[in-house]
Amino acid sequence: MDKKKQIVMSGIRPTGFLHLGNYFGAVRNYVRLQQEYSCFFMVADLHSLTTHPDTSSLKGHVYRVLSENIACGLDPEQAVLYCQSHVPETAELYLYLNMLAYVGELEKTVTFKEKVRLHPDNVNAGLLTYPVLQTADIILHRAALVPVGKDQEQHLEMARNFVNRFNHRYGEIFPEPQAFNFGEELIKVPSLDGTGKMSKSENQYATLYLADSDELIKKKIMRAKTDAGPAAPFAEKPDYIVNLFQLMQLVSEPSTLSQFETAYNDCTIRYGDMKSQLAADMIKFIAPIREKALLLQQDSAYLQKVMEAGAQKARESARETLRLVKEAMGLNYY
Ligand code: TYM
Repeated sequence: MDKKKQIVMSGIRPTGFLHLGNYFGAVRNYVRLQQEYSCFFMVADLHSLTTHPDTSSLKGHVYRVLSENIACGLDPEQAVLYCQSHVPETAELYLYLNMLAYVGELEKTVTFKEKVRLHPDNVNAGLLTYPVLQTADIILHRAALVPVGKDQEQHLEMARNFVNRFNHRYGEIFPEPQAFNFGEELIKVPSLDGTGKMSKSENQYATLYLADSDELIKKKIMRAKTDAGPAAPFAEKPDYIVNLFQLMQLVSEPSTLSQFETAYNDCTIRYGDMKSQLAADMIKFIAPIREKALLLQQDSAYLQKVMEAGAQKARESARETLRLVKEAMGLNYY
């Protein structure tokens, strides 16, 4: 099959600064996919309203996510970059899909349960139907490949269920969307404190942001948890040490990584040296993205143009899908 015809779609919520997890779980894949596939990438501002109803900093976050995506190598001439709320067809498809989603399955979603725990005072219906809206985003362009991190695996599984239900009831319109990562396995970038993953709005001191200054990167890495070192050759690594090696694997040279692996295995490792090296390599990786994103953010006219052009292309694709959907559902009365 001609790859150009395969459609790729993904999104990022504008709930804070982009971090290393967003980069390695998602954006790195976007950049590699954009040349050979037909790609749609969007800023999921509607999804952010499920947990962040205060919109006072939303516009700034939308512009930042867009500029950071471009700074990471996304090319608005190659991929369609847009903002979710600029494509109202999303909401229409979301409504149809809601009739195919069962409350019981939505209540069991891990991310829903987690958010109920974190925000018990704001368990809104949008939170419950979050995976339905995400499915609408994906199938609005009839996308088959969805580059995401490991945390989105269940949402993709639900998207496949909704798609199959739709296709079964109304006719085969949609391909089954698959979560995608170039390295085969979906990625989870761990936090620096050994608990959980890097996150836009939680765990901020244990998360490395693409906007962090060199000093802050160094500070965060140097205070990452370690211990007295392995007590025996080839000892099993505790979680927080695994995390440091994992981060090193992402940004350092393979020879650097293997040098510290060897030192770990023969018990000569000095975690202070390892963290200094990791900090230096991390700064080398993040600084150019940060500088480029800063420059782009000063050019809001350009970002606006990108968003407008993206919305137009995304709506074209969305309108065609909705035409097919309404025809299949028998909602075409004249
Ligand atoms: P969001 O905004 O939480 O995250 C954006 C992308 O970054 C990935 N990611 C990670 N990957 C690895 N390690 C981490 N620590 C890490 N943290 C985040 C996420 O997996 C995601 O790919 N529901 C989505 C947004 C969305 C979407 C969509 C995605 C809305 N519509 C349609 C795909 C298709 C979300 O909250 O992503």
